[in-house]
Amino acid sequence: MDKLVIEGGPRLSGEVTVSGAKNASLPILAATLLTDERMEIRNVPDVADVRTMLKILQALGVEAVKDGDRVTTRPTPKRQWLAPYKLVSTMRASICVLGPLLGRLRKAQVSMPGGCIIGPRPIDLHIKGIEALGARVKIEHGYVHATAGSLRGSTVYLGGPCGSSVLATANTMMAATLAQGRTVIENAACEPEVVDLADCLVAMGAKIHGQRTHVIEIEGVKALHGARYTIIPDRVEAGTYLLAAAMTRGHLFIKNGRAEHLGAVIDKLREAGVQVTSANGGLKVDAPRGALRPVNVTTLPYPGFPTDLQAQMMALMTITDGLSVITEKIYPERFMHISELNRMGAYVFLEGASGIVRGVRALSGAPVMASDLRASAALVLAGLVAEQRTDIARVYHLDRGYDGMERKLEQLGARIWREKA
Ligand code: EPZ
Repeated sequence: MDKLVIEGGPRLSGEVTVSGAKNASLPILAATLLTDERMEIRNVPDVADVRTMLKILQALGVEAVKDGDRVTTRPTPKRQWLAPYKLVSTMRASICVLGPLLGRLRKAQVSMPGGCIIGPRPIDLHIKGIEALGARVKIEHGYVHATAGSLRGSTVYLGGPCGSSVLATANTMMAATLAQGRTVIENAACEPEVVDLADCLVAMGAKIHGQRTHVIEIEGVKALHGARYTIIPDRVEAGTYLLAAAMTRGHLFIKNGRAEHLGAVIDKLREAGVQVTSANGGLKVDAPRGALRPVNVTTLPYPGFPTDLQAQMMALMTITDGLSVITEKIYPERFMHISELNRMGAYVFLEGASGIVRGVRALSGAPVMASDLRASAALVLAGLVAEQRTDIARVYHLDRGYDGMERKLEQLGARIWREKA
């Protein structure tokens, strides 16, 4: 297993290009199951979760070849509807093959996704969505078994206790593209990644409207054709670099950063005293040399503050004068990073679903352990400013969703490298 080693101190400066969005790539790769034709998906990031999804497509009878950031898929005559446990259990997002399998083959057998360290990951809304289209669903021996003689459009409300569901919206939308008649998804997720999926489905011949709102309408068609599609830039990666610049008091230009995807994050950074501006098609961030202001953050469905940047925001708040309160409304248990940040000299304590952060003058480097994808990113950010050396073990968590992070940070002036643990 590898570890990342970081010697804290340098201010980041320069330009960085973020990779394609992991959370758009996964459902869009799953959408290739909806057609019998060749697909070409561009700007796909080189991350472990994408490699897992390509293996799942292979197991389902779709040839999937990645060449650089381009993935070409070709369905084979041997189409399968069983997504195997050994692959699905390694990545919760695999559940997003449920909708396209049902839509194209009228049958799906997908292993129940394991829970994960950020909390329970229910799929009741996924099941509600496909049952509304006429699927018969049973859960047996750890698998979701779904069958449908025919799929008929209907209206379904997909709001859960924490608002809309990204992948439940994705699954229902994908199945609805090949249902008879109209489907209306109420309280649909409108994250940029859901919009990207909808735009890709439209490029394949689907009839979809409202994908930038909480009400998505899909008019079923008989078949979807192949298409070429380019994935949007990863807003979570971009937000991570914005926060890295803020922490190191640096100056960055994110060449493909999109302000419209990061409104809530930019708003909080400005409130803290960091200058963020849209310029030349990207995002410019200039952090002041002096102290930043503490801010309170509550995570919400888009366009609210994204839960996937909560840990990274907390890292910034650990070195900000004053008291900040960071509340998780999406995954109330998503705080594994707190104990590791405290090992580095931070002062954070958990009160229910809120992390209470009292800023300290400086963090100190220490051996720490990554626990999940975004917590790992928070530890990298902390290591960039901590005094002396930080060793981050189990960095395979980071490799699930960040494409070449240490290479990009090193190019920006960070002293960071990978070692065998
Ligand atoms: C997507 O997960 C993302 N993953 C997550 O990113 C992200 O944190 C999450 O959306 C929220 O934005 C991908 O897109 C691959 P949800 P998803 O269904 O779709 C509850 C990362 O770090 N819920 O939107 O699985 C659920 O418990 C990952 O890149 C139900 O109650 O998340 C949560 O509280 C982590 N019933 C809330 O909805 C359901 O059937 C939002 O979950 C489904 C979800």
